[in-house]
Amino acid sequence: MISRRACFRNLLQSLRTSYSSSKIGDYHRFASRASSFLQQVFEPSTYSDDENPGVDWDNLGFYMMRTDYMYMTKCTKGECFEQGQLSRYGNIELSPAAGVLNYGQGLFEGTKAYRSEDGRLLLFRPEQNAIRMKMGAERMCMPSPSIDQFVDAVKQTAIANKRWIPPAGKGSLYLRPLLMGSGQILGLGAAPEYIFLIYVSPVGNYFKEGFAPLNLYVEEEFDRASRGGTGGVKSVTNYAPGLKPLTRAKSRGFSDVLYLDSVNKKFIEEVSSCNIFILKGNVIASPAANGTILEGVTRKSIIDIARENGYQVEERVITIDELIDADEVFCTGTAVGVAPVGSVTYKGQRIEFKTGPHTVSQELYTTLEGIKRGLIKDNKGWIVEID
Ligand SMILES: Cc1ncc(COP(=O)(O)O)c(C=O)c1O
Repeated sequence: MISRRACFRNLLQSLRTSYSSSKIGDYHRFASRASSFLQQVFEPSTYSDDENPGVDWDNLGFYMMRTDYMYMTKCTKGECFEQGQLSRYGNIELSPAAGVLNYGQGLFEGTKAYRSEDGRLLLFRPEQNAIRMKMGAERMCMPSPSIDQFVDAVKQTAIANKRWIPPAGKGSLYLRPLLMGSGQILGLGAAPEYIFLIYVSPVGNYFKEGFAPLNLYVEEEFDRASRGGTGGVKSVTNYAPGLKPLTRAKSRGFSDVLYLDSVNKKFIEEVSSCNIFILKGNVIASPAANGTILEGVTRKSIIDIARENGYQVEERVITIDELIDADEVFCTGTAVGVAPVGSVTYKGQRIEFKTGPHTVSQELYTTLEGIKRGLIKDNKGWIVEID
């Protein structure tokens, strides 16, 4: 039960922070809020917002880089999250008995901020990440920030770390919202306290292949998710079990693994950290989000773009045999973007797919990236302008 006082406080806060989508790009409001937070908590910063942090923008990979600020807020079980604050990026203190450390009560998200050619700062559908975190929190018995609180926190954190947003076309600022059971709990149960925080890092390509096609290995020994489990939410517990198959596949020269369904070992599900699509003729298909795969924000967006571009799009069960017979295969995700798959290896057989400039995946990639980077007009209300 959420106490009345807490919710009144939350309501006041959300009234203060509420936005309408038409005003979503009101930079000055958010910028001044972010800077007033910074003034409250810190000495005035020793650098200007636009000071280059000394990053080699041409050689960004997907690595953690220490930036200036992170956002954090707490709440006790049954209450709402307090108004969060920005603080200098650094370590946080946790009880050794914290729920997240002992029982994996944690969720994360991933979204990006881009700098457009004309200098605007853009977010891509951050409310979708907020909604997904809310659904995940329900599954993991955690309180979650409201949609407004989440989006406002993402904006504040992006603005506070503005100088780390790469120049147009050089990469993006990856924002990692994290929700965890921070309170101590010895017997299995929901933690008594929770932390919601956001940290950031400038990033380039997720895969070392860059824009080169991926070579996937079909994993038959290990499963990623099972029916009734947590595969459909972004629980931290979904990822460490994937390290063994991923490491093994990488040591054999593959880019990543493609998981099959855990019951029949016959239907394709997804890759370690991205969704998968196949193309045959004019039909694009992706495994249905039925609880064992993560319903990606990129996946949703690509489905909409593909339909708008005249393709027939299906979300359904897809057999590995259908994939083998596909013309093109590609992966989607915030970190990976739209990544063409050059080959899939299944039972020792390597199957190759069409890649290159005149492919459907390239067409979809160009449209999606164009919208995200402000090069193509956003007629869907996906872009949140913060500068
Ligand atoms: C398992 C998994 N599938 C798919 C995705 C793609 O989701 P999104 O497009 O929202 O980044 C991710 C990345 O978050 C993921 O971890």
